[in-house]
Amino acid sequence: MIIETERLKLRRPTASDAEFYCAMMADPDVARFLTPDGKPQSRADAWRGFATWIGHWEIRGFGFFTLEDKATGAPVGRVGPWRPEGWPGLECGWTIARPYWGKSYAREAAIAAINWTFGQFPDLPRIISLIDPENANSQTVARKIGEEDSGEVFEFWELKLDVWAAERSQWLSRFG
Ligand SMILES: CC(C)(COP(=O)(O)OP(=O)(O)OC[C@H]1O[C@@H](n2cnc3c(N)ncnc32)[C@H](O)[C@@H]1OP(=O)(O)O)[C@@H](O)C(=O)NCCC(=O)NCCS
Repeated sequence: MIIETERLKLRRPTASDAEFYCAMMADPDVARFLTPDGKPQSRADAWRGFATWIGHWEIRGFGFFTLEDKATGAPVGRVGPWRPEGWPGLECGWTIARPYWGKSYAREAAIAAINWTFGQFPDLPRIISLIDPENANSQTVARKIGEEDSGEVFEFWELKLDVWAAERSQWLSRFG
């Protein structure tokens, strides 16, 4: 199953993405709002995170997509829906490897991934994104794709994350 956008291919992750994922999570800028301590991850910890990513697909039948740059075939990030146990809703998350920030890849991939998600789940009333109040880059992506801060807060690890959300009908009228 592959989703294509103008510049990206979104595909299910494979074992061969482990190297890319470990390198991405070793970058301090990328890890800052993703890890429990805000620090870059060791290969061992990132590998466990990678196993969770693959495992989510096995258990739920969907998950973060690997993003491939269509021009080069290189993996540039991961974007997509996920709902681990205890999550407050179906989330669309986004992480782009540091060399590819600022190219609107997150926005481009999130629009395609959320369209796919609403198509897969016809009864889904809204999609959410859990965002640290200081993560300005992620808030910008959320705003660009029409999500709003719902005012709800979700606590996880030591983090208090704002729940950003887009309602189904509003989303589909704009991007569907
Ligand atoms: C959040 C993250 C995915 C954003 O990636 P990105 O590649 O910068 O995102 P985009 O390029 O799609 O940026 C969206 C908007 O931000 C703005 N923007 C991003 N980088 C910019 C830059 N260097 N200069 C000016 N504007 C910029 C643009 O307005 C862009 O809008 P556009 O799509 O209309 O061009 C990236 O910073 C990241 O991976 N962070 C670490 C992981 C993380 O925190 N994930 C989110 C957890 S909630």
